Amino acid sequence: MDSILVTGNGALSGQIPIAGAKNACLTLMPATLLSEEPLTLTNAPRLSDIKTMTALLQSLGAEVSTLQDGQVIAMSSHDLTSHTADYEIVRKMRASNLVLGPLLARFGQAVVSLPGGCAIGARPMDLHTEGLEALGAEIELKDGYLHASAPRGLTGAVHEMRFASVGATENIVMAATLAKGTTVLKNAAREPEIVDLVECLRKMGAQISGEGTSTIEIQGVDRLHGATHQVVTDRIELGTYMLAPAICGGEVELLGGRLSLVGAFVEKLDAAGIDVEETAKGLKVRRRNGRVQAVDVTTEPFPGFPTDLQAQMMALLCTAEGTSVLEEKIFENRFMHAPELTRMGARIDVQGGTATVTGVGRLKGAPVMATDLRASVSLILAGLAAEGETVVSRVYHLDRGYEHVVQKLEGVGAKIERIKG
Ligand code: UD1
Repeated sequence: MDSILVTGNGALSGQIPIAGAKNACLTLMPATLLSEEPLTLTNAPRLSDIKTMTALLQSLGAEVSTLQDGQVIAMSSHDLTSHTADYEIVRKMRASNLVLGPLLARFGQAVVSLPGGCAIGARPMDLHTEGLEALGAEIELKDGYLHASAPRGLTGAVHEMRFASVGATENIVMAATLAKGTTVLKNAAREPEIVDLVECLRKMGAQISGEGTSTIEIQGVDRLHGATHQVVTDRIELGTYMLAPAICGGEVELLGGRLSLVGAFVEKLDAAGIDVEETAKGLKVRRRNGRVQAVDVTTEPFPGFPTDLQAQMMALLCTAEGTSVLEEKIFENRFMHAPELTRMGARIDVQGGTATVTGVGRLKGAPVMATDLRASVSLILAGLAAEGETVVSRVYHLDRGYEHVVQKLEGVGAKIERIKG
């Protein structure tokens, strides 16, 4: 298994290009199932999660090919052969459940394995099934699989979600595009990836309004057609690399970044002593003189502070002056990076969903283990700012969500290399 060796090497400077969003691409790809005509995505990230979704779509009979070194994904679901998402694929990646709504809408049936537990929490699918049932689907659980059917087709309805789940919003919106009549989805998630999905669905002929707000209205149509769509910038990759000059010092420009993608996160950076400026090409980030200051952070649905940046922010706050309180409100078990950061000299006390971090100034390099995708990159950030060498093992987690991480960080002066193992 490969690992990554990072050596603390002082301030960073230069530019980092930000890829298309993994989480947007993972919901845009299943949208191909809604139409017989081709769907092409540009600005796709080159990640193992995208390969997993490719394998899933191919297992359903979709044609999926990649062009331009993986940045273009051309798909056709003209001749699907299966409506079953197998456990062997779904267990690798929860986002596999995003085929449920499209399959059900187009074929009136879908069989999708429940994802099971994952490192960061239980992650059930009740919010997905409640929404689809409101549209007339009948869903039962048999042998670990959700069996969904809509023999008379789906029918628009007014439905309010109990929690603004990102995946449930995506599944319900995709399903409603082909339902009879109007669907009003209340307490919908507002993430930029949902706005991106709706923009793509609209290009395919869907009639949708209200994306980016808590109420999304979908007027069902008989069929959707082909389209070409550019995947939105990855705000989590953006936020992660914004933290690189924050933790190491220096100034880095994140190409393709926009303030609208990272609202509450930027406010916290500002409070910690980091300047962020929008430029013609992206976002320029610079640490102000002196030590980073402690700030309290609570994760929330967009536009609040993203749970997917909590681990990386914790790495920064380990080096801050003062004590920070981080509250994780989205997932119940998302502090597994804390014991690893502690091995690097951090002072972190975790009690349930709250982590209290007392800044120690400089961390010390150590061998550490990545436990999930965002935890793995938080350890790399910590290693960049630490004294000596840090070896991060189990980097396959990293390959799920960060393309060319070594090259991107090397490009701004970091000392980092991948060790084949
Ligand atoms: C998406 C993102 C993930 C991010 C998360 C929260 C993708 C591919 N992944 O995941 O990176 O961390 O949003 O911003 O876009 N829940 C239920 N029942 C459900 C669905 C969810 O209880 O039916 C709970 C989950 O267990 C979790 C919370 O709701 O505690 C948030 O989950 P959700 O917004 O659905 O996240 P995902 O779509 O899985």
